[in-house]
Amino acid sequence: MDLSNKTAIVTGASSGIGIAFSEKLVQKGTKVYGLARRLNKLQEIQQQLGDLFIPVEMDITRANDIENWVKSQFTEDYSPDILINNAGLGTFGNVEELSIEDWDTMMNTNLNGVFYITRQVVPFMKKNPNHCHIINISSVAGLLGNPQISAYNATKFGLRGFSEALFKELRYDKIKVSTMFPGSIATHFFGDDKEANTHPNMMQPGDVADTLIHLLETPDNILINEVTLRPLNPKNPDNQ
Ligand SMILES: NC(=O)c1ccc[n+]([C@@H]2O[C@H](COP(=O)([O-])OP(=O)(O)OC[C@H]3O[C@@H](n4cnc5c(N)ncnc54)[C@H](OP(=O)(O)O)[C@@H]3O)[C@@H](O)[C@H]2O)c1
Repeated sequence: MDLSNKTAIVTGASSGIGIAFSEKLVQKGTKVYGLARRLNKLQEIQQQLGDLFIPVEMDITRANDIENWVKSQFTEDYSPDILINNAGLGTFGNVEELSIEDWDTMMNTNLNGVFYITRQVVPFMKKNPNHCHIINISSVAGLLGNPQISAYNATKFGLRGFSEALFKELRYDKIKVSTMFPGSIATHFFGDDKEANTHPNMMQPGDVADTLIHLLETPDNILINEVTLRPLNPKNPDNQ
């Protein structure tokens, strides 16, 4: 896909890799609707990226709000070309300590929210004369289960199944579906105090975004449906 003059929706655009995805897309000339709950953060990003970045205050766990926004924004003649399902969060701990509220929040954000927005966007993509692309951000936790992250694992494994089914369902509609499975990235995912919770051997958001751009720019009849990204050496240099 030639990214200039295309239209993208990026969920979770107020932080972390969502900012990096938005920045790289805007640099390519793509209009980006950046969705997240914190409008003030999105507005700060617009100050940096300019008017090709459009802040949209949205909680992706609210199906009705998503339906209203998508239907008010897009028409038969104006469809999104790209959907990046990136918004997500993780709460970790032993299963008996994990609250039902935390389980529900992860399911509603990481899995249900992806369904809510994808089911609204796909009908517009089907009418789009261009090839379209949906990229879902899973995690290595969508490939490997591990202690203390069971609920997060469940959401990211679920997202893998959803993505694989969609890739097979939508390929003949000229809609690509890809899933990214990143390891540790230096973002606010691990807590508000990014300096304290990340280390230099984690992947950088901009490097992960370069891979996203590569997936999008593949020729129309090439689909990279899954890609795993890892830090080569994942250990904190202070603890080696
Ligand atoms: N960092 C890692 O090591 C890593 C590794 C593998 C996969 N991932 C995945 O990468 C994605 C992005 O994470 P990140 O590392 O960039 O973390 P982050 O810096 O914490 O960003 C998370 C983003 O999700 C948004 N979000 C959360 N709940 C939302 C909701 N209900 N509605 C709308 N937006 C919501 C947040 O925006 P608001 O708070 O403003 O709503 C924020 O923009 C997640 O799906 C995560 O699971 C991260």
